[in-house]
Amino acid sequence: MNRGIKLDLSKAVPYIQEKEIADMQPDLSIAHDMIENKNGSGNNLLGWVDLPKYYDRDEFNRIKAAAQKIKENSDALIVIGVGGSYLGARAAIEMLSHSFNNVLSKDKRKNLAVFYAGNNMSSTYMYDLVHTVEEMDLSINVISKSGTTTEPAIAFKIFKKLLEEKYGKEEARNRIYVTTDSKKGVLRKIADREEYETFSIPDDVGGRYSVLTSVGLLPISAAGIDIDEMMRGAEDACLEYKVEDLQKNPAYQYAAARNILYRKGKVIEMIVNFEPCLHYFGEWWKQLFAESQGKDNKGIFPASVDFSTDLHSMGQYIQQGLRIMFETFINVEKPRREILIKKDIEDPDGIDFLDGKSMDFINHQAFKGAVLAHNKGNVPVIILNVPELTAYYFGYMVYFFEKSCGISGYLMGINPFNQPGVEAYKKNMLAFLGKPGYEYKKKKLEEILN
Ligand code: PA5
Repeated sequence: MNRGIKLDLSKAVPYIQEKEIADMQPDLSIAHDMIENKNGSGNNLLGWVDLPKYYDRDEFNRIKAAAQKIKENSDALIVIGVGGSYLGARAAIEMLSHSFNNVLSKDKRKNLAVFYAGNNMSSTYMYDLVHTVEEMDLSINVISKSGTTTEPAIAFKIFKKLLEEKYGKEEARNRIYVTTDSKKGVLRKIADREEYETFSIPDDVGGRYSVLTSVGLLPISAAGIDIDEMMRGAEDACLEYKVEDLQKNPAYQYAAARNILYRKGKVIEMIVNFEPCLHYFGEWWKQLFAESQGKDNKGIFPASVDFSTDLHSMGQYIQQGLRIMFETFINVEKPRREILIKKDIEDPDGIDFLDGKSMDFINHQAFKGAVLAHNKGNVPVIILNVPELTAYYFGYMVYFFEKSCGISGYLMGINPFNQPGVEAYKKNMLAFLGKPGYEYKKKKLEEILN
């Protein structure tokens, strides 16, 4: 029996009063209408709203079949993509897999190894990755909605060649999966010409909202994760967070709470985990909120920390630095694995009082200690209680944050579904790289530099 996830705002008091939340209802109703009835800015990118209910079942089954084939013929899958075209898959795979899956021996490992490429332009990273995987049996999934993004395009070029040299063109074709726009873009053209198996990204779902489409689902399923359960979690969340009444909708309460804090000068939000496997969930969350809300000179700056690790680095600033932040803790109630601290009578080591306790119990005391300490240091804390880390709750959390992000953006008076600012560096980079058509821009940029 799944219980959903529970929002706890009690540690955000006194920065947020119940009445302030209740007073947000009229604004929230407007934002709710903009999303549910698709009449706000960016309304051509609201396909994610009802996706968990109405996703394309044929494509979904094709994804599962392709994932099965990858599992059968490959030791490793290379996921090529950047931003919204890879972070969701990585968040799910790292959250739900063995923490050291890639380095387990083949007989110990239940699932294939997964590596990521095309999310940076480092030659060292690429060289080392090729060196690591070249002798493995490989499949690749290249994911790019536009089909023109430089990072994945370079990585695809390298891995396509590697596969063709390793297996010959015919067998390489069997191992290359392309996820892109159904019609547009260079990648689509290449895929059609080479007759690769392709999956389409719905036109009305933007990159950072796309983890529950083929963008995330193929790599996640190939990594051995139950995507039916994931969609079930998202569907239950979709139902729970459809309610207009703020008092009954935790996703709206979260959106309201962060906007109230923002108006009071809390301009940084840190997502906090106590489970290393949630590190990439934090990365996914940061992209979702940064690209959705950082525009028009507005927006809460999203950051992430991994505790207890970062309590020994960022903890000092959080406790006593500028009082401009709030934290959102993800509290995982039940760990996937448990370890008991055994008694060692031979060697009293100063932590004997922990004998017989579970590591998770200790982790939870650190969690409680950090919440109260940061609270005392005037940091408002929002807590999201998640029963356990399963595919179901991954889907649930993804939908919770997607919905609250969209609502929160409309509450701030911005379009949460575009990202015009991302283009600026790309244009400069292409000019410096000498892309045809960018000659004038290159000249101008060089004048500035000199
Ligand atoms: O959320 C977004 O839209 C971006 O982060 C994109 O996903 C990212 O830039 C990659 O784009 P594309 O999928 O077109 O290669």
